Order: sequence, then C-alpha cells, then structure tokens
Amino acid sequence: MRHLISPLDLSVEELDDILELGKKVMEHPENYSHVCEGKKLATLFYEPSTRTRLSFETAMLNLGGKVLGFSSADSSSAAKGESVADTIRVISSYADICAMRHPKEGAPTVASMYSEIPVVNAGDGGHNHPTQTLTDLFTIKTLMGRLDHMTVGMCGDLKFGRTVHSLINAMVRYPGVRFVLISPKELRIPDYLRAEILDAERIDYIETDQLEKYMPDLDILYMTRVQRERFFNEEDYIRLKDSFILDASKMQYAKEKMYVLHPLPRVNEISTEVDNDPRAVYFKQAKFGVYVRMALIMILLGLDKEVR
Ligand code: CP
Repeated sequence: MRHLISPLDLSVEELDDILELGKKVMEHPENYSHVCEGKKLATLFYEPSTRTRLSFETAMLNLGGKVLGFSSADSSSAAKGESVADTIRVISSYADICAMRHPKEGAPTVASMYSEIPVVNAGDGGHNHPTQTLTDLFTIKTLMGRLDHMTVGMCGDLKFGRTVHSLINAMVRYPGVRFVLISPKELRIPDYLRAEILDAERIDYIETDQLEKYMPDLDILYMTRVQRERFFNEEDYIRLKDSFILDASKMQYAKEKMYVLHPLPRVNEISTEVDNDPRAVYFKQAKFGVYVRMALIMILLGLDKEVR
C-alpha cells in the first residue's frame, strides 16, 4: 500500500508516470469512467478548501466511484477531541482511499501510520501539498512540453506557502531548472529548504524583493497569496499582504511565452486585468488538477494497469 505525503515519496519516473496517465485521461476521459466503480474516496478536510477537496471528489466521481467526508474540523468528531489516528482507523473501514488536509504539519504522516487505506496529503500546515505539485507540474509540462531547463520565478509568501515548498522539492530533480525567489525579506523560503535542498544540491537560485527586474528572465511565474492564517500577528500580515501585485503594466516586462501560475485562491496579488492575458493560466491549472488526481487515485488503488 502506498501513501502520498510529500512529492519526494515519488521518484522522477513515478512522477512522470502520473503526468503521462493524466495526459491520457485529459485526452480520453471516457476511457476511465468506470475504473473506480465500487470504490470510495473519503475527503477528511480539517481546514478550508475549494479546489483540492472538490477536484478530488470530481476525480473520483469521473472514475465511477463514490465520495464521502467532511469539510471542516467543526463538523467532525475532531471538535469533540478525537485524534487523527482514531479517525483514520475508523475511516479505513468506510473508504478505499482518503485525502486529508490538516492545519498541523505532519498530521497526514500520522494518519498514514494508522491507516489501512492509502492516505494522500491534501495540504498540511505550511509544509507540503503534493497533489498541488502534481497539478503544477502537469500544467508546466502540458504548456511548455518539458520540465527541465527553465527559469521559474516564485513570488509572494515563500515562507508559509506549502505549494512553493513542494514545487521546489519536485523541480530541483529536473536538470537546468533555475529559481528566482521573489518575496519580502520576512517571507523568504524556510532555512531548511535553502540549506538542505537548494544549497545541498547546488541549485542555481537567487533571492530578491524585485519582481520587475527579473520578469524578462522568467519562463514561469508562480504567484502566491500571503497566507494570513499562518501569521501570528495581524499587523505583520497587513504590512506584507500587498507586497507584490501582478498587473498588466508588469506583464509588459515578461516574455511572450511566460506563463503565470497560481495555486489559488487569489486575494490581491494578481489584478483581475491579467486574467484575460493568454499567459495567465491559473484557471486552466485548477482544471488540470482533476486529471492528475484521477491518475493518482487509479495508481494508488492499483487500478491503472488494466486501463493504460
Ligand atoms: N490550491 C489549493 O489548495 O486550493 P484550495 O485551498 O481551494 O484547496
């Protein structure tokens, strides 16, 4: 039985395999509409979500399976003090696979230790969000035709943004990827990521607080929201929340083929005037999330072989 807690749980070959299956699903969804008949997905969301929970549910429904779950800690017995370990023991007898989002880093790892079904981390605190990474990689590969030899700008809250941490972990494994990490000083990437991944693996990167200056270099611009819910101090959030706002005037500095991604939800960091720019692909990215989650569910349930 496999779990997916971090993007590093997957080898590059396995990542490529999921993306390949996701592409087949996108091209011929009708071929996969019965693969999960008789199977159930539980979505255990202790923290708010729109895309991740609903794209997981859409993915399972598209595969002919069923879904159950809760969308907030308040509507589950967590509100009465039940532990994640006890919850997953019970859910293991109700469902065949589960996706869990939790505000505490490591909660899905704990669940995987007590689970009898595959556990997918759907976002744990400021730590990891591996299925968003699959979505991001699928988007980049589909639009650019490759995942190597490119300059990726990441802009906004690089400290608390778990999608940034997961995407860096995944993309450093492809050759020739260079990062431009754009954030206020207070919201730079965590030290462990800089020391243990970027420096240890001699990755080409720079840290800056200047978006316009580096725009012409970028092949991908990955914008992120400042994560209000992870701040200890509201004053700091208010001071930092509008540090970077991508608008049409800044897009003039970008390459004709630079793509703007964002895991969403967006707050102020991308002006709505950018939405109609053909380089703005964040809504397409959210749609792609369904295809990769369909591929992942099939692979974790061992149902992919018969439909390849
Ligand atoms: N990208 C993402 O995780 O969105 P949600 O918080 O809406 O699930």
